[in-house]
Amino acid sequence: MKHSKSITQFVCQECGYASKKWSGKCDECNSWNSFVEENNVPVTKSKSSKALQFESLDSVVTPPPRFSSAILELDRVLGGGLVKGSAILIGGDPGIGKSTLLLQLVANLSIKNIKTAYITGEESIEQVRLRAARLGLSSAPTKLMAATNVNDIISSIRENRDIELLVIDSIQTMFVPEFSSSPGTVSQVRAAAHEIITMAKQLGIIVILVGHVTKDGQIAGPKVLEHMVDTVLYFEGENGGHFRMIRSVKNRFGGVNEIGVFEMGDMGLVEISNPSSLFLSLRDRNISGTSVFAGIEGTRPLLSEVQALISPSVMAMPRRAVVGWDINRLAMVLAVINVRYGLNFGEKEIYLNVAGGLKINEPAADLSMASALISAAVNTPAPDNSIFFGEIGLSGEIRAVSHANIRLKEALKLGFNKAIIPAKSKYQSLPDMEIIEISHIKQLKDFYGKR
Ligand code: TYD
Ligand code: MG
Repeated sequence: MKHSKSITQFVCQECGYASKKWSGKCDECNSWNSFVEENNVPVTKSKSSKALQFESLDSVVTPPPRFSSAILELDRVLGGGLVKGSAILIGGDPGIGKSTLLLQLVANLSIKNIKTAYITGEESIEQVRLRAARLGLSSAPTKLMAATNVNDIISSIRENRDIELLVIDSIQTMFVPEFSSSPGTVSQVRAAAHEIITMAKQLGIIVILVGHVTKDGQIAGPKVLEHMVDTVLYFEGENGGHFRMIRSVKNRFGGVNEIGVFEMGDMGLVEISNPSSLFLSLRDRNISGTSVFAGIEGTRPLLSEVQALISPSVMAMPRRAVVGWDINRLAMVLAVINVRYGLNFGEKEIYLNVAGGLKINEPAADLSMASALISAAVNTPAPDNSIFFGEIGLSGEIRAVSHANIRLKEALKLGFNKAIIPAKSKYQSLPDMEIIEISHIKQLKDFYGKR
């Protein structure tokens, strides 16, 4: 009997940990039911090696050439445009608009005489054509191909030597035939991404890989995928909502946590260049339980509305639910309000929502959240036309946060004239803005009564 050369192993689809035996729980990352059998052909390692030259740090370097993606909000997230030869991974929930955005991107660039190719592994050529027609982009000279075999894709790109930007939609549908595991498994995703990125770097092509995300919002497949690329972008937005945000979480060529804002309409994704006004546009003033947070996303100020609702509960464990913020942070702020402010939420249900589908990660949002919660509890609106920012500590102290000046200026620009901010903040006073500095959460009683 001929002995099989392939190695069968079980690979955790969450972290890439490989084991000879199947197991219900991964020893490495503790995830359950994540092992999948994968058969891999072993690679014959070449033994030859040669000594390499060391280099010095100091030498004149020209920054990598960039060009505009023709979508300004995307340029902003990328740190000023697309970098030649870079690899970008873009993740997001199904239906969020990844394919739409990338089709708009390749079509618009091709109209500007940049040679682009779009490889679809998920949809048929007809489906992509239909979408292009709907977006009014049918005449754009983009090269389109439906393919999933990485070897074929690489040969095709090498044949068409003039391609400057390549989109792979999605990396989970691609497979390298030398590996027998099915597409979407860790080894396939890793191998496919490796092959494509290596080819792109060799040829100086920009490659954009679409990646699926799992239930918990990670790009499916191993973290190694994020290590293999230069830039990782996440596409996010509220389910059913129109607003879409694209955020960079890793960028070798620019800052991270920049966001670009879009609205999904009949003609695809439309850029929103002044997102603060968008997030506040539906705001009802003088309603209790709301407050406006002057936040910063990357380098850009972004105002958003925080809404809190407190309702009686019949359950032994009253519900606490958050959309757009961290539930642990909510628990902390509630505890601080309870102990340091003297307001007990007791058996009430608590809901907190950041309007417009925005996700806030900054500790600077604490004060605004606390203000909305207290306002809801005592049924008193926040001061008219006011914004809040500041981090709350466990003793109830309000801590200064960065970029006070930028936050205040944006608030003033949008018509706010009162700001409740941490004491010792660094800012220049603004003529039309009343700035109230507070150092302890207790001082919110000045606005919400002495209850
Ligand atoms: P899609 O780009 O296919 O998402 P992904 O590739 O991230 O899975 O987005 C499809 C959704 O967007 C779908 O629900 C329809 C909607 N859509 C519009 O509302 N307007 C449009 O012009 C297009 C092309 C799509
Ligand atoms: Mg898609």
